[in-house]
Amino acid sequence: MSLVEFLSSLDSLAEQAQAAFASASSADALEAARVEFLGAKGGRLRKVQQGLGKVDKADKPAAGKRFNEVKQLVETAFAAAQEQAKDGGETASEAFDVSVPGEPVCIGRLHPITQTIREMKDIMGRLGFTAVEGPEIEDDWHNFEALNIPLSHPARDPLDNFYLGEAASAAAESDSPLLLRSQTSTVQIRVMEACVAATPAGESPPPVRIISLGRVYRPDTADATHYPMFHQIEGLLVDRGVTMADLKSVLRLFFQSYFGSDGEKGEHTDDMHVRFRPSFFPFTEPSVEVDMNWTDGAGKTGWMEMGGAGMVDPNVLRAVGYDPEEVTGFAFGLGVERICMRQHGITDIRDLYQNDVRFLSQF
Ligand code: PHE
Repeated sequence: MSLVEFLSSLDSLAEQAQAAFASASSADALEAARVEFLGAKGGRLRKVQQGLGKVDKADKPAAGKRFNEVKQLVETAFAAAQEQAKDGGETASEAFDVSVPGEPVCIGRLHPITQTIREMKDIMGRLGFTAVEGPEIEDDWHNFEALNIPLSHPARDPLDNFYLGEAASAAAESDSPLLLRSQTSTVQIRVMEACVAATPAGESPPPVRIISLGRVYRPDTADATHYPMFHQIEGLLVDRGVTMADLKSVLRLFFQSYFGSDGEKGEHTDDMHVRFRPSFFPFTEPSVEVDMNWTDGAGKTGWMEMGGAGMVDPNVLRAVGYDPEEVTGFAFGLGVERICMRQHGITDIRDLYQNDVRFLSQF
């Protein structure tokens, strides 16, 4: 046998032995590989060694040297595989490679409006306001009458509301029409009524400090800033000695916590400004529109209307059984979409309801 033949049979043996040890997936498989290559009687290394005798005499020293090297190599490979099997019970081929990127699992995420609502509940909760819910289908008492909106008021116009059941105009004039609520102020009435109902005769009903978040409905034509369904956050605080100063402080703290403080939304607490603009609502007196300072995409600063607010009208307190000589209160109703859009720089309200995952997955 020529030296070249001998050396190449040695090389291929070394390669096969290493591969066999590395890929042995159990202790039994490793032992079988050991017997195949290193077995004292019929092992392949042993057989190659026998071939050594047939190599030309002059080439023997070189062949022997290489043989010893390969034997060493194969034995080391076996020892390493054995070591590894002991360590993890695994061999190299099935070892778990933690550096390989996993398959991404798409589990979805909360809608930006839901995120905003949760954050609002969180902030107002820390200010001591309890979140309560009211029905989306309302009667005219809670949506209008108790809120000091008489039958003659244009806010009750069938064209401005989603009346249910009969033809809208007939429904509006019926004794107790039902409608999709046009504002969350309905919840003010429901909460105060419940408090009064739970108060023993002769005692004063308890102070109220609640927020309510939910959907409201108005037959608006959809455009960049309007949608026939949107969300409001309603706030109501009734107690002795409540003033406009309390209202302004709470709203300012709320906006500061929501937009400022952590800098995550790119604004600093000191940059938050709330402006009250005189306005009118039947259920508050005095009433204001609540504006926030606003910088548009072009860097121009101005004011953006966030909702309405005011001191609860004595007529409303009386309608539900609170004594306006004893307590005062403030109420506010803000657009959740407005606040969410300001936070994320969303310029079209319709994007929020198209359910396009390319849009939604950004938040
Ligand atoms: N309900 C009013 C609206 O929807 C907002 C508001 C709430 C105003 C509470 C004053 C007090 O426009």
